[in-house]
Amino acid sequence: MDLPEEFLSAARKARSCVVLTGAGISAESGLATFRGRDGLWRDRDPRDLATPEAFSRDPKLVWEWYQWRRQQLARSGPNPGHLAIAAMEGMFDSFLLATQNVDGLHQRAGSRRMVELHGNITRDRCTRCGKVVPEKADGGDELPKCGCGGLMRPDVVWFGEAVPAEALETAWEESGRAGIFLAVGTSGLVQPAASLPVIAKRGGAYLVEVNPEPTPLSEAADLAVRAAAGAAMPELLERIGLARGMQARAREINTKSRRCENGT
Ligand code: OAD
Repeated sequence: MDLPEEFLSAARKARSCVVLTGAGISAESGLATFRGRDGLWRDRDPRDLATPEAFSRDPKLVWEWYQWRRQQLARSGPNPGHLAIAAMEGMFDSFLLATQNVDGLHQRAGSRRMVELHGNITRDRCTRCGKVVPEKADGGDELPKCGCGGLMRPDVVWFGEAVPAEALETAWEESGRAGIFLAVGTSGLVQPAASLPVIAKRGGAYLVEVNPEPTPLSEAADLAVRAAAGAAMPELLERIGLARGMQARAREINTKSRRCENGT
């Protein structure tokens, strides 16, 4: 991968790094993205499945869709892109991963310094008392209930709902002072996540986009890596490691991730 000197210089100097991820980072784990050719929203209307109104109207239909996605998730695992991002957090004084994904694959890859902007599909939340619990096994026709008697829902953010305030505030703050910002596998179409790269750029960050396709973020990007995240992120990790004198660590992680890719 040919990388400009400006990238290497930004990677060397940056004290802080923010990575924003979207569905594209999990595509190589076998999970469909939302938009695009095989996207989840191609033949489904988000208004029927991912809004509080849809849930009030037909909780069973919404639950079926989420249980189906949980089944897909149970069969998948983190890919080298997730692992490279997890390894990156040890390379900067300050690091934040802000993900729009609800699949928990970043945590399974080892990411810790992170915020979930859209919640997590592996948790349930009570619509009455707000209690959050790990997902329950699929109860078939029986909809999941809380101890208080309230109906449980997936602990995700639906269209028309607010992103968790604390997560968003942290992401805004860290983006504003980032030296380097990577937007990975996101169409950049959904707010407020889409504003994070803009805030970072305004604050002086070197902005990198990793996406096989151009997006509305591309124009502002200092560097667009037109490649799949699973291939590009391990390489970027290695180059960042090299720039920061941590190549041994980057290589060790990448060897591990290649082993995981081969299923060993
Ligand atoms: P999208 O489905 O909108 O966009 C996925 C992006 O990933 C596209 O730009 C693809 O080109 C890119 N992509 C596909 N394969 C890739 C790969 N292997 N490596 C890197 N990039 C790849 O997903 P998001 O941007 O995450 O919200 O969508 C944002 C939000 O819209 C989601 O969190 C969800 C959705 O509706 C809610 O559910 C609230």
